[in-house]
Amino acid sequence: MRWLVTGAEGQLGRCLVSQLQAGSEDVLAGAFSRGSLDVSDKGQVQHLRETVLGEVDIVVNAAAVTAVDRCETESAQAFAVNAEGPAFLGEACRDTGTRMIHVSTDYVFDGNASRPYSEEHPRSPRSVYGRSKAEGEVRLLELMPEALVVRTSWLFGPGRNFVVSIREQAEKRQRGEVSGTLRVVDDQHGTPTYAGDLADGLRQLGRQLGGGEKLKGDRVVSENRPPAGLMHLCNSGQASWFSFAREILDQSGFSQVGIEPSETADLNLPAPRPSYSVLDCARAESLGIRLRSWQAALAAYLGTEWGEAPLGGRS
Ligand SMILES: NC(=O)c1ccc[n+]([C@@H]2O[C@H](COP(=O)([O-])OP(=O)(O)OC[C@H]3O[C@@H](n4cnc5c(N)ncnc54)[C@H](OP(=O)(O)O)[C@@H]3O)[C@@H](O)[C@H]2O)c1
Repeated sequence: MRWLVTGAEGQLGRCLVSQLQAGSEDVLAGAFSRGSLDVSDKGQVQHLRETVLGEVDIVVNAAAVTAVDRCETESAQAFAVNAEGPAFLGEACRDTGTRMIHVSTDYVFDGNASRPYSEEHPRSPRSVYGRSKAEGEVRLLELMPEALVVRTSWLFGPGRNFVVSIREQAEKRQRGEVSGTLRVVDDQHGTPTYAGDLADGLRQLGRQLGGGEKLKGDRVVSENRPPAGLMHLCNSGQASWFSFAREILDQSGFSQVGIEPSETADLNLPAPRPSYSVLDCARAESLGIRLRSWQAALAAYLGTEWGEAPLGGRS
């Protein structure tokens, strides 16, 4: 299958690109970062459709504005990229018979649930980011019902993320540059997910969408109906940010660094966060796709060039 990735320099985009470059079954037909394709620019997406999409089997949209707090004050940009972007791409994919996977988020839910959210649960976003992503899902699926929208949560991968930030803070404390214990919120629960594992799952889903054949209208050339609509895909298990941080310290050789739980309200952040956003991944599991535990995924990430321990001392 010939794949095209947008947002190619983000955490997920980089994992997808490196896996597609290394794989033998898949071909990377295009990797577009923001500089080469602005998904919120309809003209640029139309140009892509006219020049490239004819030679592509599947597009994965990993482009997004993900700075949750900044979205509160820059909502026009959040909606342009997170809501209009997937709609522009969906229209181009539909018109060229190209399959599409779009990536979305647990922040489309308000967090009031006490058991994992299924795909059928109504959207109820609380932040601008969540609303922009929810609108992107709706607009894409209205235009292209055969598209697959994969929601994930708490991503870590190449680039800046929670794991990097906890390790930097621990290192500063170990070096004596900063004093005091680390304080991390213990009242938000979700599932940390390694972008490399998500990329692997998306490649498996992409193959199930159909091996190298163009879509013919909404009729799909396959005996089994390929997955379409909403799907949840995360590593297994759940954590609070505090328990995630504790595991990061333990796996990175910083077990002696002091850490204590705190509350979200103490942080006074601009954007509200769901207090519980664990996603039920049973639908993906029914297709044979189950990602390993988040703890095992963290260990794998720390073993890559992206997550190497700065002090080299892992427990
Ligand atoms: N990160 C998480 O914790 C998390 C959790 C749940 C779901 N998700 C979803 O997972 C997907 C991948 O997330 P991620 O963590 O890989 O995000 P990321 O690291 O922030 O990467 C997103 C990429 O999109 C690019 N981008 C921004 N505006 C763009 C535009 N107008 N056109 C094209 N590209 C643009 C960004 O470029 P610049 O950096 O240059 O702006 C960045 O390289 C997103 O859909 C996100 O909503 C993420």
